[in-house]
Amino acid sequence: MENKEIESRINYLRNILNDANYEYYVLDNPTLTDQEFDKYLRELEVLEANHPEFDSPLSPTKKVGGEVIERFKKVRHTIPMLSLPDVFSIEEIEEFDARIVKESIEPSYVCEYKIDGLSVSLHYEKGALVFAATRGDGVVGEDITHNVKTIKSVPFTLKQPIDIEVRGEIFMPKKVLEDLNKDREKKKLPKLQNVRNAAAGSIRQLDSKIAAERKLDTWIYHLPNPEDYGMKTHAEALQFMKDLGFKVNVDANQVVTGIQEIETYVNETAKKRSELPYEIDGIVIKVNRLESQKKLGFTSKYPKWAVAYKFPAEEVLTKLTDIVFTVGRTGRITPNAVLEPVIVMGSTVKRATLHNEDYVLSKDLKIGDIVSIRKAGDVIPEVVEAKLERRTGEEQSFLMITHCPICGNLLEKKKDQVDHYCMNLSCPARKVEGLIHFCSRKAMNIDGLGIEIIEDFFNLGFVKSISDIYFLKEHKNDLIELEGYGNKSVDNLLSAIEDSKLNSLERLLFGLGIEGIGDKTALLLSKLFKTMDAMMNATYEEFKMIRDIGPTLAENLITFFHDEEKIALLEELKTIGVNLTYLGEPEKTHDLISGRRFVLTGTLSFTDRDSLSALLELYGGLTSSSVSKKTDVVIVGENPGSKYDKARELHIEVWDEEKIKNIVESL
Ligand code: IVH
Repeated sequence: MENKEIESRINYLRNILNDANYEYYVLDNPTLTDQEFDKYLRELEVLEANHPEFDSPLSPTKKVGGEVIERFKKVRHTIPMLSLPDVFSIEEIEEFDARIVKESIEPSYVCEYKIDGLSVSLHYEKGALVFAATRGDGVVGEDITHNVKTIKSVPFTLKQPIDIEVRGEIFMPKKVLEDLNKDREKKKLPKLQNVRNAAAGSIRQLDSKIAAERKLDTWIYHLPNPEDYGMKTHAEALQFMKDLGFKVNVDANQVVTGIQEIETYVNETAKKRSELPYEIDGIVIKVNRLESQKKLGFTSKYPKWAVAYKFPAEEVLTKLTDIVFTVGRTGRITPNAVLEPVIVMGSTVKRATLHNEDYVLSKDLKIGDIVSIRKAGDVIPEVVEAKLERRTGEEQSFLMITHCPICGNLLEKKKDQVDHYCMNLSCPARKVEGLIHFCSRKAMNIDGLGIEIIEDFFNLGFVKSISDIYFLKEHKNDLIELEGYGNKSVDNLLSAIEDSKLNSLERLLFGLGIEGIGDKTALLLSKLFKTMDAMMNATYEEFKMIRDIGPTLAENLITFFHDEEKIALLEELKTIGVNLTYLGEPEKTHDLISGRRFVLTGTLSFTDRDSLSALLELYGGLTSSSVSKKTDVVIVGENPGSKYDKARELHIEVWDEEKIKNIVESL
């Protein structure tokens, strides 16, 4: 085939496949069979592979993902992406309607489903997708084009070659979350709590292959500049966007007049809600006439022409079979409800925190009670109340424990506080919780040291304190012998532990578990003090001067840094080689260096290893002494050691002297 012919065949195939995607994913009315679709797609893939000169970022072959970005770029919204004021009752919708009528505005509204996902802004130029952004804080969002491109219902090209921005919701269908969680359960990964978090997590992936696997979808519901396209009503704008090729929920949306019709829509939707293949968490009611919208205008946060009615949180009944106590890393005792397993909003609930003694007493909970459960913030299960009318007389009253359930120490209650504490610093429960916290994702983020493994290692005596984690390598042979372990998983675990030594100060500071110091405060302190030494030498007054640090936190910091055991621990960590400085944002960046992990081996003729390490670190690279899965590049000089073999075995990028010399000279 001539080049011209090839180009036109490519264009022909792209059109067929784009249309097929539209018919399948937007209209839900496929015209091609799956076999035909696959045949055309394969033909196109082969042509594109052989003719990169005709590559297009908007080819339907790109829907499978593959693009990987380094970081999310910020995008400023030309028109702010506002959210909506929430209302929770029909009375509040009536108040909204009354405000509209009071302004002599005709009460004609569009009622829509409130889709439970995350909002997105899609930008097209001459009918072609140019970029997609999240809402962010409403003014500045993040560029998520690489992931949005994998969503099948997002058109690459519109039916008209116009410039336009539209907004809508990215969501994960209920069935997709169900399947994903089944798969995660098999892999022993924690389940994703709800469709919103799952969709948001998928969109926040740097690698678009992962987003593509998550089978996200869209409903488009907002045209920010309707007048530019001659629209008179919101309903017209919705139809216009549908005609352009977007997925618009026209079957669900309804134009209504007056409060009575809104109420009917709300009630009917509430009945249908559980049958829908996607989650909705309410109804959005928007004034239909755009002129009226303009007249009503905006507050600083919201449009005055729309409200979001939120459905009440689903409450489910179950039996409170027991109340058990757990000991946190600060020694705090928490009573927990043990429940007959019950499904609330898509996931099984077996336990719920009861916070403290006062909480249980104020709800008058008894063991054996039938209680109602709901998910606070849709994620954390909460016991709402005991159903007193269901009591049989067999229920047992709640009694707060007086001694630690783990070490038996007498519990203490601090003055004016509701919580009970086990003050025994050697209480195994406190120690284990402290270790779990140290290794957790927001702290030292040591892959492979999860809750159960830490408990096992603690009970086996391998890890009794934080510094023991770094001596686990001395038990390598014992670890390999343990059930469920092998050479490879032990190697991975030990590498993850070694890698954690390179973490920036804030992770360590947070991981130390100083009372009241969360990850945000740890970051703030690390940025201000730069080194652990500087923090250890700071005074109470210096801490208290910092915004966000009150007298209690300042006191906690001083107590911690003056405790002999803690000072010894920090000294030990320093000797072990754990980084105690804030690495922060690098002052300089380089595409091939910043954020990557390097290992150096062999001798280099143009520089020595220490100078090169310092240079790499200056550009935001991290250097480590051993090769692991997480290593990005191994720099190999003359007479390299076994690190070079390991790099090849793990297929890690290798730079020779020539390559690093060129890069260094270009800096
Ligand atoms: S309209 C200026 N319509 O709910 C109007 N929002 O609480 C912008 N949402 O941030 C929003 N379904 O993420 C609109 N049919 C719908 C919606 C909807 C879900 C989300 C959206 C928004 C939030 C407001």
